[in-house]
Amino acid sequence: MGATPPRGDYSRAGSDHTCAQDYAAYTEAHHGTYRRLYARQSALLPGLACSAFIDALPHLGASDTIPRFEDINARLFPATGWQLVGVPGLIPEVPFFSLLAARKFPVTDWIRTPDEFDYIVEPDLFHDLFGHVPLLFEPRYADHIQAYGEGALKAHALEHGPHPVPGAVEMLSRLYWYTIEFGLMRDERSGGQMRAYGAGLLSSPGELAYCVQSDEPQRTPLRDTADLLRCMASSYKIDSYQQQYFVIDRFDTLRALTEPDFKPLYQTLNTGHSQAG
Ligand code: PHE
Ligand code: CO
Repeated sequence: MGATPPRGDYSRAGSDHTCAQDYAAYTEAHHGTYRRLYARQSALLPGLACSAFIDALPHLGASDTIPRFEDINARLFPATGWQLVGVPGLIPEVPFFSLLAARKFPVTDWIRTPDEFDYIVEPDLFHDLFGHVPLLFEPRYADHIQAYGEGALKAHALEHGPHPVPGAVEMLSRLYWYTIEFGLMRDERSGGQMRAYGAGLLSSPGELAYCVQSDEPQRTPLRDTADLLRCMASSYKIDSYQQQYFVIDRFDTLRALTEPDFKPLYQTLNTGHSQAG
C-alpha cells in the first residue's frame, strides 16, 4: 500500500461516495495495528481528553480487532440517530457535507501502515473511528455535527449562488478544523481544566499531550461572535502540531454560537471590517 494521498480503492464507492466496509480484506496485521493504536491512545486519555469522550469510548466495543461498522451502528443509531458509513478515503466536500446533514458519518475503511503508527496526515480508520465516533453518542454534539453539515451545504450554495459569497466554505472549514478536529474545552466535570475534544487531538499520540500541556501554542477562548470571526479568519496547517487552539466552555456554546445565520458573518469577513487576525 503506497503512502501518497489519496489512497484507497475509489472504484468500490457508489454514487454517494460510500462503500461497504471490506471486512474480509483486513489481515491479522491490520487488526494488530488497531489493537496497538487503541491501547496506546486510550492509556493517554486521563487528564487530557474531555470527560464526555472518556465516558463514550466504550461504545466502540472490543478493541482487540477492528470493529464492524454495523455492530457500532446497532448501538449508535438507537442512541442519537447517527450511522457510520464506509468511505474509501477523503471524498469531495458536497457529498461529505450531505452525509453529515443526513446523520451519516463517513469512516475510512483502511488502516495506516506500521511506519505511520505515530503520525499520519490523511484520515484513516483509526482517526475517524477513535477520534470522531465516541462523541457521536453525545446528543448535543451529535446534533451539532448534523447542523454543521447543513450549514456547510448552505455555505456552498451561497458561494456558488447568484450573488456569490466568496470563501464561505473555507471559513466554515476553519471552524470545523478548530473545533471538531482540534478543539479544546474547559471541562466542567474536571473542575474547568483544559481538555481536548477535537478528533485530530484525541487520535494523536503526540499532540494530545502537547495541546493541553505545552507552553508553545496560543489558546484563545471561543465564547462570542467576535471569537467566532477570529476563528473563521485563521488559516491552519494540516501537517504539523497546531500553533493556535480555540477553547470552548461546553458543547452548548458551540451550538449557541453556530445557530444564527452565518451569511452576515461571511460578508463581514469578506469586507475586512472585523478585528480578526
Ligand atoms: N447557522 C449557520 C448558518 O446559518 C450554519 C452552521 C451550523 C455552522 C452549525 C456551523 C455549525 O450558516
Ligand atoms: Co477528522
